[in-house]
Amino acid sequence: MIKKLGKNDWREWKEIRLEALKKSPDSFLSCHEEEDKTPDNMWAEQLENSLKFGYFINDEIVGCSGLLIEKAAKISHTATLFGMYVKDGVRGSGVGLALVNFVKDYAKKNHVKHLYLGCNAQNLGAVGLYKECGFKVYGTRPDYTKIGSKFYDDLIMMCEL
Ligand SMILES: CC(C)(COP(=O)(O)OP(=O)(O)OC[C@H]1O[C@@H](n2cnc3c(N)ncnc32)[C@H](O)[C@@H]1OP(=O)(O)O)[C@@H](O)C(=O)NCCC(=O)NCCS
Repeated sequence: MIKKLGKNDWREWKEIRLEALKKSPDSFLSCHEEEDKTPDNMWAEQLENSLKFGYFINDEIVGCSGLLIEKAAKISHTATLFGMYVKDGVRGSGVGLALVNFVKDYAKKNHVKHLYLGCNAQNLGAVGLYKECGFKVYGTRPDYTKIGSKFYDDLIMMCEL
């Protein structure tokens, strides 16, 4: 079951977000050491003030994603998908696909026409998932992220809803 996370889901959200940052450090822009310092009330606040979604199996969160719909009138038809993560044990079973499609539907119902995302160019699994869901690569940000001493290109992808 996929649902939009509310403030009462903050414990599940905190758990999966910190796991994502720890286990997949090359996949996200912020890092575990930064977000691990977040006080508990802020985890709940994040869920009140932004759109986050969770995939649950037997009440356990196994996947998550986020959506940012732009507020400024001229770009309010655009949004960004971010924070995609699926726990190791359930990968390859369609959880990621279901989450991306859920976010696409949610965005479309909220009048979004263009859904964007950024993805580490070396993250072939995620790029494969996004292509499967209708995203196309339309640009590259060279050396966009620096992790340790290594630079990574970032692909900009977009899906028309
Ligand atoms: C990327 C990620 C979200 C995929 O989740 P998932 O639940 O395993 O994906 P799904 O099982 O729904 O896969 C759906 C489709 O995506 C593509 N895909 C998924 N993983 C892939 C891989 N490793 N290589 C190539 N294509 C892949 C395939 O087309 C797959 O369809 P198929 O299984 O019929 O071949 C997951 O591996 C993950 O959390 N990775 C670490 C965090 C991360 O990289 N997040 C993305 C940040 S941009």
